[in-house]
Amino acid sequence: VVASGDEGLAEQQQEKYLATHADRTIRTILLLVAMEAEAMPMVQSLGLSADDPAVIPPPAPCHSFSGEHAGAQVHLVCFGKCKATGVDNVGTVPAALTAYLAIQAFKPNIVISTGTAGGFRSRGASIADIFVSTAMVNHDRRIPIPGFDKYGVGAFDAVPTPHLQQALGLKAGVVTSGNSLDYTAEDMARMVEHEAAVKEMEAAAVAWSADLFGCPVFCLKSVTDIVDGDRPAQEEFLENLHKAAEALQHTVPRVVEFIAGRRLSEL
Ligand code: ADE
Repeated sequence: VVASGDEGLAEQQQEKYLATHADRTIRTILLLVAMEAEAMPMVQSLGLSADDPAVIPPPAPCHSFSGEHAGAQVHLVCFGKCKATGVDNVGTVPAALTAYLAIQAFKPNIVISTGTAGGFRSRGASIADIFVSTAMVNHDRRIPIPGFDKYGVGAFDAVPTPHLQQALGLKAGVVTSGNSLDYTAEDMARMVEHEAAVKEMEAAAVAWSADLFGCPVFCLKSVTDIVDGDRPAQEEFLENLHKAAEALQHTVPRVVEFIAGRRLSEL
């Protein structure tokens, strides 16, 4: 149950967001996912098929899947594999590139950056919880020069989703992005300062590209590891990847069903 004070705040946030984003009905949804292991269970549960021939042509390494779900056109784009090492193209550089090309190709009404993340226990995160973003920031871009300091943080608001959060019982918070699985003391100070609930490697870059197109964006991040816990992230990540991917496989179709055919103001 949302307290009446929170309801007022939610309304204010929605009004602010709709001042800069047209209140469109959602008919075309773009999901962006860095890792194949995160993406394929969702491709299956949404009933999508690989786009053949490729909609986003080489040399872009990303690959797309499309289909219809709950009356909406759904596209899922994976960041592809690194040419040099063969591993998934995680991180902000492939995220910005993929987001730009996919928004240009599919012209979505909304973008969802989805995948796994580290969660902050201090913000209520447990393994395999799914968080919806309220905002996206960077924690590893430190440029202490006037103007560039704010650019470095690169904060964007997520489309407000109070009804979605309530309907599906999802946790919500700030998603913070950086290009490392671990963190420095300075990264941690910034994550705490920005009240981060989850830490991952793509969302702020996706938000930057989406903003160029004026396209609304939010994140759905499934927790594989506890950032403010006592175990190395890589250990917990590998242990919980399957469980976190299963949570996304179940929840992402429910999210698509909720947002399809609704206006931004109804999320
Ligand atoms: N993806 C999953 N866990 C993560 C973490 N702790 N940091 C960055 N990206 C992640």
